[in-house]
Amino acid sequence: MLRDIERVLLTGEQISERIKSIAEELKKEYEHKNPLILCILKGSFIFAADLVRELDFPCTVEFICASSYGKSTVSGDLIIKNDIDFKVAGRHVIIAEDILDTGRTLKHIMDIISAEKPASLKLCTLLDKPERREQEIKADIIGFEIPNEFVVGYGLDYAEKYRNLRFVGVLKKDVYSG
Ligand code: XMP
Ligand code: MG
Repeated sequence: MLRDIERVLLTGEQISERIKSIAEELKKEYEHKNPLILCILKGSFIFAADLVRELDFPCTVEFICASSYGKSTVSGDLIIKNDIDFKVAGRHVIIAEDILDTGRTLKHIMDIISAEKPASLKLCTLLDKPERREQEIKADIIGFEIPNEFVVGYGLDYAEKYRNLRFVGVLKKDVYSG
């Protein structure tokens, strides 16, 4: 697994330090609001799990399973695989996403959630790849801005592999183009 990685972009330590500071930022605004942390599966499962454990105030956690058709390094057409069977109306929603790339996934999800009339809606993304943006969408909180390279680890996959790496690394090109 490790030999498919060209280089480590963010170490586990860097990620965990950044998540602590994001949690402090969220505390200022949400400490008494019982926010709903919305984890976008699958890629965000580790980020959301680490983030909520840094929050020392009440919150709830829900999940949306988003997936795109098409090749694994290209954002294809989006499908949402589960019903939104939790109450969003009146809640302070924080979307926890692994990576904001073209913005298509988040645009779609934010439209769906907005339609449910939350009290507020914020987007918190661990990684932002602004170079590839197609949709006009900006995250409220960004963990790290990264260059336009395909990354894996810390929840992010290529063909469902590498999610279990503790760090975020750039995948060797020959792994997906070879
Ligand atoms: P969009 O383009 O809709 O894409 O903003 C967001 C989704 O695309 C996947 N994605 C990646 N997955 N390494 C990955 O493992 C990457 O570099 C990457 N770029 C985009 C990811 O599923 C994300 O939720
Ligand atoms: Mg994702």
